[in-house]
Amino acid sequence: MSERKILVTSALPYANGSIHLGHLVEYIQTDIWVRFMKMQGHTIHYVCADDTHGTPVMLRAEKEGVTPEALIARVHSEHFNDFKGFHVHFDNYYTTHSAETRHYSEDIYSKLKQAGLISMRGVEQLYDPVKNMFLPDRFVKGECPKCSAKDQYGDSCEVCGAAYAPTDLINPRSAVSGAVPVKKSSDHFFFSLSDNRCVDFLRRWTREADHLQPEAANKMHEWLGEAGENKLSDWDISRDAPYFGFEIPDVPGKYFYVWLDAPVGYMGSFKNLCEQTQLDFDEFWKKGSTTELYHFIGKDILYFHALFWPAMLEHAGYRTPTKIFSHGFLTVNGEKMSKSRGTFITAASFLEQGLNPEWLRYYYAAKLNGSMEDVDLNLEDFVVRVNSDLVGKYVNIASRCAGFIAKRFGGRLVDGADYQLMQQLVDERFGSWRPAAIEKAFEDRDFSAAVRMVMKCADEANEMIHALAPWEIAKNPDRDKELQRVCSLGIQLFYILSRYLKPILPETVKQIESFLNCAPLNWPKLTEQQSVSHLLLPADHTINTYQHLMVRVDTKKIEAMVAANKQSFAPATEVHSPARHAEKQQHIHTPVAETITIDDFNRIDLRVAKIINAEHVEGANKLLKLTLDIGSEQRTVFAGIKSAYDPAQLKGRMTIMVANLAPRQMKFGMSEGMVLAASSGEAGGGLFILSPDEGAQPGMRVK
Ligand code: MSP
Ligand code: ZN
Repeated sequence: MSERKILVTSALPYANGSIHLGHLVEYIQTDIWVRFMKMQGHTIHYVCADDTHGTPVMLRAEKEGVTPEALIARVHSEHFNDFKGFHVHFDNYYTTHSAETRHYSEDIYSKLKQAGLISMRGVEQLYDPVKNMFLPDRFVKGECPKCSAKDQYGDSCEVCGAAYAPTDLINPRSAVSGAVPVKKSSDHFFFSLSDNRCVDFLRRWTREADHLQPEAANKMHEWLGEAGENKLSDWDISRDAPYFGFEIPDVPGKYFYVWLDAPVGYMGSFKNLCEQTQLDFDEFWKKGSTTELYHFIGKDILYFHALFWPAMLEHAGYRTPTKIFSHGFLTVNGEKMSKSRGTFITAASFLEQGLNPEWLRYYYAAKLNGSMEDVDLNLEDFVVRVNSDLVGKYVNIASRCAGFIAKRFGGRLVDGADYQLMQQLVDERFGSWRPAAIEKAFEDRDFSAAVRMVMKCADEANEMIHALAPWEIAKNPDRDKELQRVCSLGIQLFYILSRYLKPILPETVKQIESFLNCAPLNWPKLTEQQSVSHLLLPADHTINTYQHLMVRVDTKKIEAMVAANKQSFAPATEVHSPARHAEKQQHIHTPVAETITIDDFNRIDLRVAKIINAEHVEGANKLLKLTLDIGSEQRTVFAGIKSAYDPAQLKGRMTIMVANLAPRQMKFGMSEGMVLAASSGEAGGGLFILSPDEGAQPGMRVK
């Protein structure tokens, strides 16, 4: 087979969250495939990056009081370490917030524009009048228009599953400020996917040359409809300021939608790699390139990769992907990952427990078959499987044989006639260990089949060793030669299996290479005439002392990991709405004050007040200036609530004030009363002003 030039990507993880075991289904799968192809001698480059743009990153940075640039830099190093921890080896791990990605985004956009595939039209969207921003669907919450379930997102209902537009929600609220959103129109740019050129191209592309797995191709045909039908809508690729992303050239205040520049991040990361090496960017991306391009993705983002992305590339004059490999979603113990059950497991928490990342690599490999089916991580099965396969079957072969070789034979394996006898035996008994079928399974990403075949080989090796029982032979010094033969055979079989497992267990096999005193293992290439015995270590080979290769999984560590994830996602830290925030605080009690009489209480004149104006006070860091209507008159009150409220949010609200408090001269003016608010008394504990139930009128007395 001639050497191939291949570029591989995994989807770019969002920079607004941690890497979890669900993500790792993808990155581990890709990494195994890339390592396998590398072992085969192909030239293969694996690039990835953080997907850094969009509203969630912008808002999260704002909430943390840092710039988006600082946030994405921090997350980048976290992600980088997580991947490294699981031996996911990228040739470049970059960011979409880069000059390279900007360059190619602008380039593709301008070429699409030249081709007449960009149009502009007004879009009506929900707008947060307090934050002064358009609200993405997920940032609007309200009641489901279908089943009336409360607190649902603007795109779909988690209770009844209905899909709708955010403008359909009943009682919509901005999840950013709590304000009632208003409808507002603005101009957006669209990529004309419904143009015949795009539709015709996609109809062809999704059918031909196995670009997609059969299930994925079927999905695309559903989306595309029959010939003559046109089901594709144009794709909205711009967003209005404020937005964290790339501003569209010559259109101030308009930005590329994050999904426009995200896949371009593949090019950006590769371009950045080219700048550090001698690689030629154009060789891989120009139209008609003979190199191969593979994208590994989850099934949730198929639409973007199988429709938008190829259409963008095609009409901007670039090559299109060779294949898109789409996988299913991770479930844990048969259910969706859940924060409250502790099964939303972060990559970092797995490593922090001292669990071996190669256990997870092996388990995923044993489950992945190249289809789009979901993958289940059953934690009990995980322990059983790793302990029985990796420790009980595979590593066991070496640990049963290596000690004798070291102690009794100075590390020497058999040579001469004994070596020839062993070759013969291997060909007779283990002829089926040829690499072809395992190789095909790896190449097809059917790792579960590869693992099954390798473990069947391991079973056969163990049966043989068990039958020959070196530990029995060792009891009789006259049988030394025989002992060396049996143990050499065991080590040789272990050596063959280690090649096959190397893409999955790169670190363990690295240790094995040093233990076996051999060159880095590559994928075996046998001609038709060559038999399995060609894969053995040479005659008269000396190995090093055996060091323990792998321990068993300790169930306690798994339990501790689940507990740790449950904790870190306890509801108090999971929700951020002021209402839930108050709930969190309810357990912190300040002691109740000294008893007073009803007469004491009656001396305080509490009134319902309407906040008719609220404004910042120049030079004051805690105070807001409120104008309150209490029916008979208006009052000015300086309230220390700036940390918790935006003045615009307060205007028009009803609250309760102490109306007979002696006026107080403050630095900024006279304060004529006090507004009631709840707080825990602790810094950071939150502040919540009171409001009466609906119907109460300004001036009503509160008793
Ligand atoms: N940023 C986008 C991808 C842009 S690619 C140009 C994105 N990011 S993500 O962080 O949500 O997901 C990254 C990858 O991990 C996606 O391919 C996604 O399908 C995959 N997975 C995320 N959660 C997953 C599971 N629970 N299970 C399996 N894969 C999952 O999408
Ligand atoms: Zn519903």
